[in-house]
Amino acid sequence: MVMKKLCFCEWILLCHLLLATIVCSKHHGNPANDLVEFINQNRTAQKLPQLSDSPGLGCMALQYVELCKGNCSGNSAVNCKPPDDDFTEVFAPNCGVELPTIGTITGHIVGCQSKYTEPSLAFSNVLVKDRKTLSLLRNKSHSAVGVGLVGFHKGPFFWCVLFSNGRTNSTFVLEDRGQGIKQKKGCYSGSSFPCNAGQRNAMFLNYIITISYLFVSLLNHF
Ligand SMILES: *[C@@H]1O[C@H](CO)[C@@H](O)[C@H](O)[C@H]1NC(C)=O
Ligand SMILES: *[C@@H]1O[C@H](CO)[C@@H](O)[C@H](O)[C@H]1NC(C)=O
Ligand SMILES: *[C@@H]1O[C@H](CO)[C@@H](O)[C@H](O)[C@H]1NC(C)=O
Ligand SMILES: *[C@@H]1O[C@H](CO)[C@@H](O)[C@H](O)[C@H]1NC(C)=O
Repeated sequence: MVMKKLCFCEWILLCHLLLATIVCSKHHGNPANDLVEFINQNRTAQKLPQLSDSPGLGCMALQYVELCKGNCSGNSAVNCKPPDDDFTEVFAPNCGVELPTIGTITGHIVGCQSKYTEPSLAFSNVLVKDRKTLSLLRNKSHSAVGVGLVGFHKGPFFWCVLFSNGRTNSTFVLEDRGQGIKQKKGCYSGSSFPCNAGQRNAMFLNYIITISYLFVSLLNHF
């Protein structure tokens, strides 16, 4: 009887592990790309054109939230207003965006939460949760989008979406054949680099705990 119960438990854990692997491998574990997908799904459902995914914009979105990390106020709002010049003088150079290709930012949405949430929930509960942000998302001026996200140790988790009206090929172009500069923390859409820290650590911890449990319960059988 006890043995049967244990087996059932292990099955659940094993399934959990498999599921985590599947979820993890989608988009190579980059939730910023998932969020871009939700934005485009929401737009195409309204017969609006899809936005192209710009890694240069994504990297700048990550820079934006890096700067605002101390300013998460309650109710997922970020009380932060970087000076306009920061886009050209700080964010772009930090990302390795070629300066002559800097285009116009046509909108931005920033949100924060006490911990990491799935991209679908971040979309509806953190970023696009009122009419104002929904109409911003559906603005006809946008043609490109970039998403950055980062979590801070014991601190809140930030998401940022930047929109621009430039063409992906010719605006916010990254140096070094589109590689730009590797981010130290977090991740951004369209990036060729994997996410750093944040939810990845949580996933990893989950793996370790699950595997140790399976191992221990396996030993118990002998
Ligand atoms: C963050 O909040 C502080 C305190 O309210 C404020 O002084 C600062 O300007 C904010 N940072 C930005 C970049 O807006
Ligand atoms: C769309 O965005 C542009 C650029 O930011 C702005 O000038 C315009 O007022 C917005 N349109 C609507 C309908 O909000
Ligand atoms: C688009 O997003 C808004 C805000 O989260 C939501 O209310 C609406 O149902 C979404 N529309 C579609 C077609 O997904
Ligand atoms: C973007 O640039 C590539 C090569 O530089 C070119 O092949 C492609 O047609 C361009 N796409 C658009 C939409 O201009």
